[in-house]
Amino acid sequence: MRIDRLLCELNIGSRTEAKRLLKSGQILVNGVRITKPEERVDENTAVILFKGKEYRYRRFVYFMMNKPAGFISATRDDSCKTVLDLFAQQYALLYGNGLFGIPAGEIFPAGRLDKDSTGLLLLTNDGALAHALLSPKKHIPKTYYVETDLSLSGEKLLRLENGVDIGEERPTQKARIERITGQSCTITITEGKFHQVKRMFQAVELKVTYLKRLSIGSLRLDPGLAEGGIRELTKEEVSQLCQKLY
Ligand code: URA
Repeated sequence: MRIDRLLCELNIGSRTEAKRLLKSGQILVNGVRITKPEERVDENTAVILFKGKEYRYRRFVYFMMNKPAGFISATRDDSCKTVLDLFAQQYALLYGNGLFGIPAGEIFPAGRLDKDSTGLLLLTNDGALAHALLSPKKHIPKTYYVETDLSLSGEKLLRLENGVDIGEERPTQKARIERITGQSCTITITEGKFHQVKRMFQAVELKVTYLKRLSIGSLRLDPGLAEGGIRELTKEEVSQLCQKLY
């Protein structure tokens, strides 16, 4: 890509401004000063230094968030705070405005968590990956940690594992459950119906009092990520996630 275009893509300036910055010697690419706007650089490896700040280009970005309760997963809402408000705040804290040349506004949550649910949320601008992850045909397993109001009897766990009626056309598909204490367990499901986990537990006369998503496919919530925090996925995490999808 031409260096002047890359500077535009990174929101460093308009094409005209980019040319001016280059000609006045203010741009270093991988440690080398570049002054000609028409010079080509590899946008995938270029590290641009401008006014003491490093910029890297990414076509797609992938972030995990440890969602706290109290935020909704919609892109916009008049009365509640959305996960995107939180994301924009955290992104600005970490990177200023547009380190990767992607305005925070282009990023959306791939999947939902209820307002009172917590845990792993994937945020990306990669529509194809989000679409594949959410496709019911792909049966991507998602694991949740659940606490309930009453005791989890063996009989109830068995019913949940084998499939329960949540008012849809068919009972839920087989789930995997691991009991942790009398009133907490993990559950792994391969569907994503609206309020699915809560409705499944309701079907066996239990109320979910706490719900936290721990994983989506191969992607696990980073135990070191504070509630409300975001971090970029590693290359390995992205490639493992994609392997199962395409
Ligand atoms: N199932 C639910 O009921 N709620 C969530 O937030 C996620 C899965």
